[in-house]
Formats: sequence, C-alpha cells, structure tokens
Amino acid sequence: MKKLIINGQHELTGEIKISGAKNSVVALIPAAILSDDNVTLYNVPNISDTIALIDIIELLNGKVEYKDEVMKIDTSKIENKVVPENLSKKLRASYYFMGALLSKFHYAEIYFPGGCNIGSRPIDFHINGFKKLGAEVTIEGNKYTFKAEKLKGARIYLDFASVGATINIMLAAVKAEGTTYISNAAKEPEIVNIASLLNNMGAKISGAGTSEIKIEGVNHLSSGVIDVIPDRIEAGTYTIIGALLGKNLKISGIIEDHIDALLSKLKEMGVDLDVDDNSIIINHPDTYKPINVKTLVFPGFATDLGQPMSVLLTQANGMSIFEETIYENRMGHVKYLQKMGANIRINDRTAIIVGPTPLKGEEVVATDLRAGAAMVIAGLIAKGQSTVNEIDHILRGYENIVEKLQNVGADINIIED
Ligand code: EPZ
Repeated sequence: MKKLIINGQHELTGEIKISGAKNSVVALIPAAILSDDNVTLYNVPNISDTIALIDIIELLNGKVEYKDEVMKIDTSKIENKVVPENLSKKLRASYYFMGALLSKFHYAEIYFPGGCNIGSRPIDFHINGFKKLGAEVTIEGNKYTFKAEKLKGARIYLDFASVGATINIMLAAVKAEGTTYISNAAKEPEIVNIASLLNNMGAKISGAGTSEIKIEGVNHLSSGVIDVIPDRIEAGTYTIIGALLGKNLKISGIIEDHIDALLSKLKEMGVDLDVDDNSIIINHPDTYKPINVKTLVFPGFATDLGQPMSVLLTQANGMSIFEETIYENRMGHVKYLQKMGANIRINDRTAIIVGPTPLKGEEVVATDLRAGAAMVIAGLIAKGQSTVNEIDHILRGYENIVEKLQNVGADINIIED
C-alpha cells in the first residue's frame, strides 16, 4: 500500500503551478465521443481518474494519444459497448458516459455502482433528465440501460443545482431534436468548460455558467479543441497550505474568479494575499481570526474545500464553525484531526472548531479525496512525523502532489510497503 510520510513545520517558499481541473477533464473525455472525428484537450492532468477514463474510451474503440498534458482522441470509429463495472467503478464520473452514449447511439448500457464515502450520491436528477428527453431507463442492480427511439428537446428543472446532472443532461441534449432548457442548472466553471468544447464541436449551447442553459439540438458534431481550465480545488488547497506555511509562496496558473469565496474568507482570517488574475503570492500570518464557513454551490464556498479549510480553522484564535450543506458526510477527516490534537465537535453536518491547537504528527487515513488533502495539510503543520494511509484517494485528484510540495520545501515522501 502507498503511504505518505510527512515531517511537519517547514515554511514553504517558491512556486506551485496549478494543473488542469479534475472535475472538468472527467467530463470532457466522455464528451469527446460525441465528435464524429477527433478531439484535442490541452492541460490534461496526469491523475488516476484521467487514466481510468482512457481505458473506457479505448474499450469503445477510441484511439488516445496522451503526452505532456496534451490528449488527442480519435473518435471516428467509436463503437457502442457495455461499460463494465471493473472500469466504471474506478470513478463516479464514469456516469458521463450515460449521457454521451445515449446522445450518440440512442442506446447505452453501463454498470454504475452508487455511493461513496461522502454520501449516497444518487443520480436521480440525471435519470429524470434523460427520461424527459425521451429515454427509457432500466435499472437492474448496478446495471443501467438507456434507450430512446429519438431524443426530443425538453424543459428540465433541477430540484438541486447538481453539477453532474447539468453536464449529463447537456451531453444527452446536444443532438436531440429541438431545444432543451435546463432551469436551476449548476453554475460551476466546469460546466462552462464542457459547453465550450461542445460548442467548438458544433453544438449550440447558451447560458452555461448561469442557472438557465439553452441547448438547440444539432445533427452532427465534428472535431473540437479545448484547454482544460485550472483546477480551482487544487488551487484552493495549495492556497490554504500557503496561508499556514507560505513565505512568498506563489500559486500560479489560477483563475481568481473561481476561488473568490475562499480568498475572501482567508482575508477575513487576516491572511496576507497578493492576488493578480492568474497567480497568488502568500505570506502566512502569525495568528488567524476565527470565522464561519458554510459550503454552497458555486459561486459560494466550494464543498470540496471545506475539509482542507477545517484544518486551517484549528489554528484560528477562538471558535470557528464549518457547516457542510452539499453532502451528508464530509467529516471523515475530523477524527484524525482530533487524534492529532485538534479541538473539534461535530453536530450532524456542522463542525465547531476551537483553536489554536498545536497538532502533533500521527498515523492517519485518507477516507476520501478531500479528507486526504486535509490529512496532508495537517501533516505539513504538525510537530513531528505523520503517516497518511490509503493515499490512492489523494492521487486521484492532485497531480504530482509530492513533487509540487517537495519543490517548495516540504518534507514529504511516498513509500510503498
Ligand atoms: C461534482 O460532483 C464533483 N465531482 C464533486 O467533487 C463536487 O463536490 C460536486 O460536483 C459539487 O461541486 C465531479 O465533478 C466529478 P452534484 P457531483 O451532482 O456532480 C445530490 C471532488 O472531491 N444529488 O452537484 O456528483 C448529491 O448527492 C468531488 O472532486 C442528488 O441527490 O455533485 C449531493 O448531495 C466530490 N441526485 C448534491 O446533490 C442527483 O441526481 C451535489 O451533487 C445528483 C446529485
């Protein structure tokens, strides 16, 4: 099993370059199969989720060349095949092949295991959207079958501004007959990235990034090119690390608007941030004011940054409140922070954090991707050595995290035992 060994309390100086966004690329790759020719993606992060999706594209007879963050996908001979569980279970975003295969072939069969460590994560909004477009959906255990004589544009209201459902319905609607309107659509930057690729391929999508998206169906989608946007969650994670340990630490290749909520909360805590539109220079303060953090849909405070942020709150002078409103369980990291010395009390989806509490190095576990990021941050500030187990979760979403941190002075290594 791979583990991280971290010796804490080193100030971090230098530059960290942000990679392409995991939560964009995991939708852009499935979207590519809608092209009858080929698609080129730039700034593709080399993370395990990317590799898992290449396996599915190749199963569908797509040809993939991936080198130095550039991915060329030849989709001219894509075939419709059953997506098996051993491939689809590697990442939840495999569900984007539901919308893409249904859109391209009017038929899709995919095994899809539900749930994960942060909640039940149903896909009812996705399914209801496909049905409104004219698909018949059959679910037998983990096997989902979608079929449609034809797909017809529809008016679809989302009970919750779901990122996945918004993207999946967009994929299913781009070649439908007529116009589809998605109301209460998610506004996350990833939605805009996917809509931009589809429009570059010849789709007619307007309103991406707002809560009202209009999709006029087209018959053919040709080749497309797109730059994967910078990963706002990776950028936020390293910015939080900078707030704790940075000494002229530069986080570059960011889009400031995508992490506005985080930056304003850090300024509220008294963190000194020198921000321009594509980089941040951070010098950590000696003390932090306590604040309240409530996760919301974009442009609110990102749920994926709640767990990393809660580590910083353990160092604030007084009581902070961290409230998670998107998922049922994003507190998997708390028991390990408590083991390291944090003073945290959980009440359902709210954590009451009293600081400052010096943390000491301990043996801990990454229970999910962002809990794992929280463990890395805690290890970096703790006195002594920490061991983080089950780090495959972390490697799914943070490209070259060990090298990026070593390059700015962190004492962190991967061991395999
Ligand atoms: C995406 O998940 C991201 N994953 C998540 O990032 C992120 O936390 C989330 O959006 C919110 O920003 C990817 O993009 C691959 P949702 P997604 O649909 O699309 C409920 C990470 O750490 N819901 O907006 O699954 C759902 O259970 C991951 O990178 C339904 O009830 O998020 C959740 O409580 C974690 N029915 C809430 O909505 C549905 O059909 C938000 O889900 C769909 C969702």
